[in-house]
Amino acid sequence: MEGTAKMAQSNSQAVLKTERGGIVVLDFGGQYTQLIARRVREQQVFSAVLPCTSSVEEIRKLEPAGIILSGGPSSVYDKDAPVCDPAVLSQGIPVLGICYGMQWMAKNLGGKVEPVQRREYGPAHFNLEKAESHILGGLPETLKIWASHGDNVLELPPGFHLTGKTANAIGSAEDHKRKMYAVQFHPEVNHTDRGTEILRNFLFRVCKAEPKWSGKAFIEETVEAIRRKVATHHAICGLSGGVDSTVAAVLVHRAMGERLTNIFVDTGLLRKNEFEHTLEMYRKRLGLRVIGVDASEHFLGKLLGVSDPEQKRKIIGREFIAIFAAEAEKLQKSAAGAIKFLVQGTLYPDVIESVSVKGPSATIKTHHNVGGLPENMPFALVEPLRDLFKDEVRRIGKDLGLPEEILVKHPFPGPGLAVRLLGAITKKDLETLRDADAIVVEEIRRAGLYEKVWQAFAVLLPVRSVGVMGDGRTYGLTVAVRVVQSDDAMTADWVRLPGEVLERMSTRIVNEVPGVTRVVYDVSSKPPSTIEWE
Ligand code: XMP
Repeated sequence: MEGTAKMAQSNSQAVLKTERGGIVVLDFGGQYTQLIARRVREQQVFSAVLPCTSSVEEIRKLEPAGIILSGGPSSVYDKDAPVCDPAVLSQGIPVLGICYGMQWMAKNLGGKVEPVQRREYGPAHFNLEKAESHILGGLPETLKIWASHGDNVLELPPGFHLTGKTANAIGSAEDHKRKMYAVQFHPEVNHTDRGTEILRNFLFRVCKAEPKWSGKAFIEETVEAIRRKVATHHAICGLSGGVDSTVAAVLVHRAMGERLTNIFVDTGLLRKNEFEHTLEMYRKRLGLRVIGVDASEHFLGKLLGVSDPEQKRKIIGREFIAIFAAEAEKLQKSAAGAIKFLVQGTLYPDVIESVSVKGPSATIKTHHNVGGLPENMPFALVEPLRDLFKDEVRRIGKDLGLPEEILVKHPFPGPGLAVRLLGAITKKDLETLRDADAIVVEEIRRAGLYEKVWQAFAVLLPVRSVGVMGDGRTYGLTVAVRVVQSDDAMTADWVRLPGEVLERMSTRIVNEVPGVTRVVYDVSSKPPSTIEWE
């Protein structure tokens, strides 16, 4: 859910020890920019992505050991082609330009860049030159690489020497004196042979970066930075039951203890026993101070007779904000010290969109996990996970000692069961869906598949069908079972479940859930379907 609140960004926090000596990735809008940052962190080196429009001061603040210029979809000759401050190239900090990054660098340093007739895209062969190379040293003479570019560097800038070629272009070059490196292809993608080695060479041989970015170091320094930031003030956090908000809350709790109050709202749209179970885990196992708000009747009332999915989403979002804001206000009045901060489990992919080349103001949006909060809520944000990807958050969660159940929990939509109960929502149908869903998940667990699939759940269809039970004719409800595999929820495939698992699910649902007489299995992929039905 997008927010509208005008809240201070959390960027003001001091530079952490693990951030110093890391890598700044300057984003020219490339589709692989996030992947570059992640590959760097896989080498235990801190990396932060900044828009290419960042000032030299902003970059220097992080005290980076090196800078990587990302790829991008533009031509350096486009009218509004993204650019960096050229001073980035004269800071004495090693620079690696990848694809568009290489072209921009070449053009700025006096080389010659020309558009190619046809954009090159996909696999290609790259041949190393017999020349000294700091980042290609030790690699075979020929590599399979992945390229995607519309411009070529025709002439290298003064000071550079050629280190490799593809069939029709300069493939790589280096200027050892100025510590500048450039590759026309993408070392960060898996399709490039030995790409990790090339990045490692840049990180460790050239930049002398220190591999000190670990879960433990991140936790210690983040807790310390939060302590400095919040001083003696209070904070609130909206918990959803998912891994991101839980990890954020546990980190902040380590920093400020009881001065953090969490709010967990039961919308009445959670899964079977989820509210009670999660609340207990928060309180007893994680020691968090949590206010549990049972607002199920309130939500049901607001959703009465509403069947349009977008309408449902809007109502749930709006009511959630209203309830959260009311609880925050009550707390504000009762807290011994004023509440100044709002904690959110915002992740990196929520923060930067691929259009970040347009500059920070146009692109860095605050993704309000708890909903778009009203403008007049006077909180500054604490977002300890805003540089991380989901799997990195899981790793931090593990290092924090969070229970496995929360770390492996399937994603669950904010509007909850409302988008899995097609059409208008009634209490009775919600009960039916909850029971059927619990059976689906139980059977997936029993088959040892819970951690192997992306999501597994039941959907209650607004379709009745004729059946027979005992000697009588029935006209009962239909449950669809949806189990999908996915890497990032952008695409998904239905899981080929073993027949016995489907059989057990079907038999149990029909026998144990009153009113359901038919079970169907959803065999649609995304696209063209979506994971959820609404
Ligand atoms: P779709 O159905 O779009 O879902 O293929 C992709 C992923 O997003 C989840 N999802 C949502 N999450 N609010 C959320 O917080 C929503 O309105 C919403 N709709 C879908 C879905 O469960 C899947 O993981």
